[in-house]
Amino acid sequence: MKTNPTFQRRDVLRTLSYGAVCAGMCGAGPMRWLLADIHAGETAVYRMSFDEFPQLKNSYGSVRLNVAGIPSASNQIVVTRMPGNQFYAVSAKCTHRGVAVDPFKKGKGLYCRAHGSQFDVDGRVVRGPARSALKSYDTSYDGSGSVSVAFPNLGYSVATSVIQTGAGDRVALSFKTISGMKYTVMVRDKLGGGDAEAVQFATTPDGPLSASRFTGNGKTTTLYLQPVGDAGFIQVVRE
Ligand code: FES
Repeated sequence: MKTNPTFQRRDVLRTLSYGAVCAGMCGAGPMRWLLADIHAGETAVYRMSFDEFPQLKNSYGSVRLNVAGIPSASNQIVVTRMPGNQFYAVSAKCTHRGVAVDPFKKGKGLYCRAHGSQFDVDGRVVRGPARSALKSYDTSYDGSGSVSVAFPNLGYSVATSVIQTGAGDRVALSFKTISGMKYTVMVRDKLGGGDAEAVQFATTPDGPLSASRFTGNGKTTTLYLQPVGDAGFIQVVRE
């Protein structure tokens, strides 16, 4: 079974407001950055467009795919479309011994080839030896060309601080990364709107601000940046 690793993902890990404030006498002292936490998302919502996943254009279409970072030893899910625009997303990890179940087939449900367990489209056990249901995830259909799947507890908090470096004041953003996931940093002038601009960052405190994308390695990383403009919102975005 082909799995598609190009699941569209783009979720904001953390949004911070920042403002340049005067240290000491206004107009005389060096500018310092002031940070405030606006929002920390715990649930990651991934959007699957039907152009990328044509299996989901029609009823009974089903696809198994990898999702980096879902809290499971097996990071695959099965997403299925049923009549009436009902969508189901469940973990592919068989609750018997963890083998990945096949995508949904009419009359067969989600079938595990290892020992013959069968599950209904929503993860309920139809036939053992598995005894418990597959973990299910909330879905939301946009009414036309895509369905979104929500993964709770996939968000990571981002620790922030303003540090003084040989290259001036910088904002340090620390967060645990998922191996293989790509991260960018955006700055926008309005919360939830306005033009978002990708900013370049350094991977060392006083290194050059020349990186625009960081590939996760499963460890905690720190990115260093200098926001543009006097005030705005910084977002760490996972793609
Ligand atoms: S691992 Fe699926 S039935 Fe045994």
